Amino acid sequence: MIKFEDQSHELKNGKKVVIRRAEVRDAEKLLECIKTYVPQSNYIPKLEQEIKLNVEQEAEWINSFRINDNSILLIAEYDNQIIGNIDLTGNCRKIMEHTAVVGMGMLQEWRNSGLGTALLSSAIEWAKLNPVLELVWLQVYTENKIAINLYRKIGFKENGIIKNFFKQDGRHFDNLTMVINV
Ligand SMILES: CC(C)(COP(=O)(O)OP(=O)(O)OC[C@H]1O[C@@H](n2cnc3c(N)ncnc32)[C@H](O)[C@@H]1OP(=O)(O)O)[C@@H](O)C(=O)NCCC(=O)NCCS
Repeated sequence: MIKFEDQSHELKNGKKVVIRRAEVRDAEKLLECIKTYVPQSNYIPKLEQEIKLNVEQEAEWINSFRINDNSILLIAEYDNQIIGNIDLTGNCRKIMEHTAVVGMGMLQEWRNSGLGTALLSSAIEWAKLNPVLELVWLQVYTENKIAINLYRKIGFKENGIIKNFFKQDGRHFDNLTMVINV
């Protein structure tokens, strides 16, 4: 497992948060955090009722990042609370094991604070040190301007749009793929 040193970041709101690798013991708090922020966003393509993991399954999910060398799950903590997370999920097929896909989110009150920048830059720094990973990619609603701005800032490049990929309440939304070489 490639090491990740705990990091402290001061955000735009003056608050100091810690970014660290998720541990199995974080399962309950992390699940609570994700269950809170998913319905707070229009741009995570998952309905609240589709978050079906229980604490034990969440713990297994966390553990999968500890045993797969091309994957990492980081959490952000403030005042002993988990406020956001990012995962780089490495592909488990040999032909694509040099690739990982990003998922990230945070509680609404922490958005636009620089936390996303801190989480993503930490994850990409780690990916650059990882001898297996070469390419990190993600998918994002083309309407999600704050996220796209962050991804561009970190160095992701646009790599094609699938039109009308998401459909919610009768409305369609386009899906942008972005890629960074690490
Ligand atoms: C998307 C998300 C991870 C970004 O993290 P964040 O902490 O809000 O982002 P940051 O504050 O680090 O950076 C956002 C940047 O976008 C800019 N920004 C804010 N609103 C913007 C807008 N409407 N248009 C363009 N840029 C915008 C900010 O100024 C900032 O840039 P700067 O650092 O150069 O000033 C977070 O908002 C989130 O969790 N959203 C809900 C879930 C989600 O969308 N997840 C991603 C799915 S792909």
